[in-house]
Amino acid sequence: MAQFWKPGTEKPRLLDDGEGGVLFFSSSYSSSSGFGFSSTEKQRQRLPVYKYRTAILYLVETHATTIIVGETGSGKTTQIPQFLKEAGWADGGRVIACTQPRRLAVQAVASRVAEEMGVKLGEEVGYTIRFEDLTNPDVTRVKFLTDGVLLREMMDDPLLTKYSVIMVDEAHERSISTDMLLGLLKKIQRRRPDLRLIISSATIEAKSMSTFFQMSKRRRALEGETFEPKVEPAILSVEGRGFNVQIFYLEEPVSDYVQSAVSTVLSIHEQEPPGDILVFLTGQDDIDAAVQLIVEEGQNDRKRSELIILPLYSGLSRAEQDLIFSPTPRGKRKVVISTNIAETSLTLEGIVYVIDSGFSKQRFYNPITDIESLIVAPISKASARQRTGRAGRIRPGKCYRLYTEEYFINEMPAEGIPEMQRSNLVTCVIQEPMISKMILASGELGCSEEIMTIAAILSIQSIWASSRGAQKELDEARLRFAAAEGDHVTFLNVYKGFLQSNKSSQWCHKNFINYQAMKKVMEVREQLRRIAQRLGIILKSCERDTTAIRKAVTAGFFANACQLEAYSHNGMYKTVRGSQEVYIHPSSVLFRVNPKWVIYHSLVSTDRQYMRNVVTIDPGWLTEIAPHFYQQRQLSHMPH
Ligand code: CDP
Ligand code: MG
Repeated sequence: MAQFWKPGTEKPRLLDDGEGGVLFFSSSYSSSSGFGFSSTEKQRQRLPVYKYRTAILYLVETHATTIIVGETGSGKTTQIPQFLKEAGWADGGRVIACTQPRRLAVQAVASRVAEEMGVKLGEEVGYTIRFEDLTNPDVTRVKFLTDGVLLREMMDDPLLTKYSVIMVDEAHERSISTDMLLGLLKKIQRRRPDLRLIISSATIEAKSMSTFFQMSKRRRALEGETFEPKVEPAILSVEGRGFNVQIFYLEEPVSDYVQSAVSTVLSIHEQEPPGDILVFLTGQDDIDAAVQLIVEEGQNDRKRSELIILPLYSGLSRAEQDLIFSPTPRGKRKVVISTNIAETSLTLEGIVYVIDSGFSKQRFYNPITDIESLIVAPISKASARQRTGRAGRIRPGKCYRLYTEEYFINEMPAEGIPEMQRSNLVTCVIQEPMISKMILASGELGCSEEIMTIAAILSIQSIWASSRGAQKELDEARLRFAAAEGDHVTFLNVYKGFLQSNKSSQWCHKNFINYQAMKKVMEVREQLRRIAQRLGIILKSCERDTTAIRKAVTAGFFANACQLEAYSHNGMYKTVRGSQEVYIHPSSVLFRVNPKWVIYHSLVSTDRQYMRNVVTIDPGWLTEIAPHFYQQRQLSHMPH
């Protein structure tokens, strides 16, 4: 398929003037592969942020909030936490936190920083994402985590007392968790003058961010603090020289951006000098399709065998991640096909060509139908410029935009809409009412002891130990406790075993249970018991009447009911309420079991929407327990 390209016409302008065109990106330093062998320290010194080390440390010392803006790849994420550590911010058992919106980015930067510091990941440097905690509370001093995980930590420790500095990274993404985190951190700052915040990003309206974090002087004076960091946030911009990226547009719009991206990859490979290619598509489906197409089309071609095709999306294994970051062998050309994670969260060395589909997956909430979904939507001009910039890292590059210049100029929105304005906020704000309803109902159903255990476990990130490469053993351990009714009942089995072992840590270790998490469960459960007693809820055990237990769960979480699609071969469920597509998460005991009707505790969205912590139900309970919510006609396709 022939595609015709047209060079962009915008005049070259300097970065960050808000308009762009040909862009200049920081790349005054060389990459690790550029100069043969060099010590880690030398590599670190070549990064643009290195020149700002003293300035950054001074600003953090003297200001409650420091805003740092710097191009992707300038070293913000990997270097600043190390500067802070070296300057003593982690002394006395304190911890430096750095948040990321994406789990894969958390893992990648944490392992890079551990490597640079010459320590084992999970010790001095660690990370926590949902389902995986690679930290050791006694020794971890630099901790990378998703902003969602930090929000959760706040529920247990509202002032986040163990942290000395919290760096909220990638703030320009304006993910819903980042925005909520920023709002809450602002409140924490009032109570904790010793806490320092760093807000860092590739591009940001630094001024509006600064206005937001401006603190009232009067209020601080009222609280009678002795040492006052400056209330006015500091703003630092990390600069560097850059390489020119030439932009090409399609002459005519295309209908199939996957096919168009594949054709562009192949023609770059035929016609252009060496240099890796980065393709921006939207998610696992179109990325896998593109990989497949390139492989098929190049099967018998010697030149095509020089291509190393690598998909990049959330959920990749460590080995797959390593391939993406490792240098391209001589005579080969890497083609990384990515979601917008490579837009600013991860820096890939060696990229010279960028292909931009003009789309990404975004969460949209329709308040009329009450459906929240991830849909493929056009990106903004700001994102398009970031994507272009990824081509100018090691030398002048080229960016192929799979849309027309007219479209870019006239139709592409200037900025994205913050996720907070396109999401259903209910789930962020209201965790407490659903659990409460479940506990209240358990009093009536005579299973309050069991439900209290379940509620305590659900409040903990995960009771399973991190598998640390022993996924098979972990899965086997899980099977020992597995209940056909689902995760909630499985939790009861674990809890019972834990009590029978006399709360033994060896027992936990043997069964891949996280001992610390179980101790926390006991604590939370005790709190819940006290609250329940105060509310006059009768504490009673149902002796494993799982119907009562599952009915109580239904009473709280009826809005999360899902039905397996009748002809689904891949375990697709639809939410009863909104007909949203969801799947059972691999960590669930019901993964691959796929019972007809389930209720989930929470959703995690990666490439798909996954239901985490799932229990089977009888659909009849929905109309029985929540008639106000489920009218009979809505469930007309139910078996009766
Ligand atoms: O955060 P920012 O975009 O400013 O840069 P960074 O992520 O700290 O990256 C600084 C340098 O570390 C770049 O040269 C990256 O290529 C390199 N890096 C890496 O090689 N492997 C990683 N997993 C992360 C960063
Ligand atoms: Mg970064």
